[in-house]
Amino acid sequence: MANFDLIVIGAGPGGYVCAIRAAQLGLKVACVEARDTLGGTCLNVGCIPSKALLHATHSLHEAEENFAKMGLKVDLPKVDWDKMLAYKGDVIGSNTKGIEFLFKKNKVTWLKGWGSIPAAGKVKVGDDIHEAKAIVIATGSEPSSLPGVPVDEKTIVTSTGALALPKIPKSMVVIGAGVIGLEMGSVYARLGAEVTVVEYLDAITPGMDAEIAKAFQKILAKQGLKFVLGAAVQGAEATKKGAKVSYKLRKDDSAHEIEADVVLVATGRKPYTAGLGLEALGVEMLPRGQVKTDDHFRTNVPGVYAIGDAIVGPMLAHKAEDEGVAVAEIIAGKHGHVNYGVIPGVVYTTPEVASVGATEEQLKEQGRAYKVGKFSFMGNGRAKAVFQGDGMVKLLADKATDRILGCHIIGPGAGDLIHEICVAMEFGASAEDVARTCHAHPTFSEAVREAALACGDGAIHS
Ligand code: NAI
Repeated sequence: MANFDLIVIGAGPGGYVCAIRAAQLGLKVACVEARDTLGGTCLNVGCIPSKALLHATHSLHEAEENFAKMGLKVDLPKVDWDKMLAYKGDVIGSNTKGIEFLFKKNKVTWLKGWGSIPAAGKVKVGDDIHEAKAIVIATGSEPSSLPGVPVDEKTIVTSTGALALPKIPKSMVVIGAGVIGLEMGSVYARLGAEVTVVEYLDAITPGMDAEIAKAFQKILAKQGLKFVLGAAVQGAEATKKGAKVSYKLRKDDSAHEIEADVVLVATGRKPYTAGLGLEALGVEMLPRGQVKTDDHFRTNVPGVYAIGDAIVGPMLAHKAEDEGVAVAEIIAGKHGHVNYGVIPGVVYTTPEVASVGATEEQLKEQGRAYKVGKFSFMGNGRAKAVFQGDGMVKLLADKATDRILGCHIIGPGAGDLIHEICVAMEFGASAEDVARTCHAHPTFSEAVREAALACGDGAIHS
C-alpha cells in the first residue's frame, strides 16, 4: 500500500499522458495497467499496429502500381505474412517500451494489475489498497457487439483479431464502413483479398463531409473495395469456408447473404468501465454507458475524474490525450481546457482523409452563411509527381467574416496537412490569413493555400 496524489486507472493515450503531465507538474503519481505492456488499445491493438500494416501494404501497392511507371524494374514483392506481423510486433514493442521509459523518467509508478475503486480516495490493485487524493478513470473502450454476430476472433473478428489473422484471407466481409472497417479493409484489399463492406447507412464514414465521403468511396472502389450500402446486418454464422453474413437491404427489405473467409465486425466501440466498482461507488453513468462528467472531468463522486473513450465525445486517442493533459492540470490546481471545436479526425487509408471543424451539412443545418473554397490535388504538381492527384481540399469559411469554420481534405498527407488549419482555427484565423501565408513549393500544403485562395479572389492553379 502506498499514498499518491493521483492514481490514473488505464495506461492508454489518455491515462499515460495524464500520468506523465501530472508528474511533470509535481504530483506523486501512479498509473494502474493490467496489460503486460503500456499504451492501451491504441498502441497494442489499435492505432499503431494498424498503421504498421497500412504502411507495409501501401509500400506493396506502390511497388505493384507505380515502380514500373518510374522506371524502377524490380520483381514484384512477395508477401511474407509472418514477417509482416513480426514487423508490426516490433513497432508495437518499441512504442510500448518508450512509454515505460517515460514513466521511469518522470517517476510515474506503474501499478501492474487490475484496478478498482472500493471507495473514494482508494484504488485496489490485486490485494493492495492504495490511497490517492485524486483518481482518474481512463479505461477506454472495447468493440461493441452486434446481435446475432458471434465474434470468435478467428473467422468473425473485431479489429483486434483482424490485426493478427493467422493467414491472409482470400475474401473478407467488413460490417460497418467506419474508420476501422475502411482502414483494415484497405490493408486486406491490398494484400489481395476480395473485400466487401456492408454498411447500414447510404454513405460511408458517417459524420464526414458528404462530398468528401463520396469522393472517398469512389477512390476506394477504384482500389477494389466493394460496397453494399443501406444494408442492415441481421446476423452471421460460421460455415465450412469461413463465415456467412445475412443482411437486409433497407430500401426494399430484401434478404441477402454473403460468405467470406473472414468477417470483420467494425460497428463502433463502447466505453469500457466493467469491474471498476463504479456502481457500488455510486458514480453516475450516462444511458450509453459513459461515465458522466462535468466540464472539469469531475464525476459526481468527489476526487474521482474520468477522461477519454470512457466519457462522451469522439473516441479518438488524441482527444483522450488532450483531456489527460487538461485533467492533470486541473488536479494540479491549474486551468486545463480542451477546445472540442478543433479536434481533427483522420482516416489513414491511401489517400488519407482528414477533417476539422464543421462539415458543409452541419453549416447548412445551423443556417449559417458560409463560403466554400475547393482545390483539387490534380492542380498540385507535387501530388501529380507521386501519382496522388485524386482528391481535394475543401475549406469552409464564414461568408461575412471569412473566419475558417472547417476543413476537409482527401489526398496525400491529409493527416498532416490538416494541422495547418487546426492551428489557424485555434487562432481564429480567416481564409485570407492562410491564403496570404507563403507556402513552400512544391508541397502538398500548397493545395490548402489554394483552397483558401478559392474562398477569396480564386485559386491560381485551377
Ligand atoms: P464507426 O462508428 O466509425 O463506424 C461504424 C459503422 O458501422 C457506421 O458506419 C455504422 O453505420 C455501421 N453499422 C452499425 N451497425 C450496423 C449494422 N447492423 N449493419 C451494417 N452497418 C452497421 O466505428 P468503428 O469503425 O468500429 O470505429 C470505432 C471507433 O474507433 C470510432 O469512434 C473511430 O473514430 C475510432 N477509430 C479511429 C481511428 C482513427 O482515428 N484513424 C482508427 C480506428 C478507430
